[in-house]
Amino acid sequence: MYVLGVETSCDETSAAVVAEGPQVLSNVVASQADLHARWGGVVPEVASRKHVERFWPVVREALDAAGISLRDVTGIAVTNRPGLIGALAVGVAGAKALGYALRVPVVGVHHLLAHLDAAFLCNPDLRYPFLGLLVSGGHTQLILCEDAETRRIIGSTRDDAAGECLDKCARVLGLPYPGGPHIERLASRGDSSRIAFPRAWLEETCDFSFSGLKTAVLRFMQKDGGATPLEDVSAALQEAVVDVLVAKTMRAARETKVSRLVVAGGVAANRALAAAMARASEEVHLDLTIPPPALCTDNAAMVALSGMRRVQRGENDMPFLDAFASDPLGRRLPTSA
Ligand code: KG4
Ligand code: ZN
Repeated sequence: MYVLGVETSCDETSAAVVAEGPQVLSNVVASQADLHARWGGVVPEVASRKHVERFWPVVREALDAAGISLRDVTGIAVTNRPGLIGALAVGVAGAKALGYALRVPVVGVHHLLAHLDAAFLCNPDLRYPFLGLLVSGGHTQLILCEDAETRRIIGSTRDDAAGECLDKCARVLGLPYPGGPHIERLASRGDSSRIAFPRAWLEETCDFSFSGLKTAVLRFMQKDGGATPLEDVSAALQEAVVDVLVAKTMRAARETKVSRLVVAGGVAANRALAAAMARASEEVHLDLTIPPPALCTDNAAMVALSGMRRVQRGENDMPFLDAFASDPLGRRLPTSA
């Protein structure tokens, strides 16, 4: 079985081929970051147009890299929610066209669940239940994954996502979009103890808030006038984000009494976060899985895997498969016992 995955929910055009196992045979990602850099964020209409241009070359490259032809494809899994509606529509239309032409099933995949499913690509021994921290440019959520179908939201950001906060602060620091990797690079050479940025603890909850931190960084930069090296500002900012992510995740793990933790999404590519999460997990004997960076940021391999089970069951969302900008996951649970 070969599942072709397609991902176009934001500014990455990606296609991948995943076989049973699961085995990633190819995972091609064409980033548009350079295109959006001068705007300091993703311009939806520009992203959609670029997806139109790149869809077919990226699919072709993924098939070639996997050493298979279109005729070998058993089914197609495409991100159809949530995301930029125009960008999603391009991937969905492309996947449906291929599905019709090849007479194979096409299934729609939830982007956030695909991020969590990426953990199964690097840890085939992973079992339910587990706690997932999904930390990306658009989302910061703690999700109790009870089984493949049942997920409960334990905590969410009340304002900015962690990645969004890093991206906005990076802009204030004069760094290109997306800011997360640049902050990480500078932070690795900086001294975090020179600035005490605030942490929003939101006591008695597993919720997050990052907008105060963003404002604090902006105020600091306005007052500082460039006197403090950007390395130190980045280190202090990164530490503030990591501290809260780790503390809230550990709180949620205690409350849900899970023994397994998955950290996924673009910000999970951050090595300082991975190291801090590993230390904290070890202390309380949590079995931690963080996918490698290429499977943390947006990619189609996670989408192919996420849709594979449904393709195996013979399910098919054709002909009514559609794209949806929003689709919140699960129900909220009271967080304190
Ligand atoms: O999952 P993703 O690729 O797209 C969304 O679904 O949002 O996440 C993108 C986010 C951006 O905010 C980016 O700055 C952040 O992930 N990011 C990082 C790193 N790599 C990507 N943040 C911190 N450190 C990194 N190494
Ligand atoms: Zn994503």
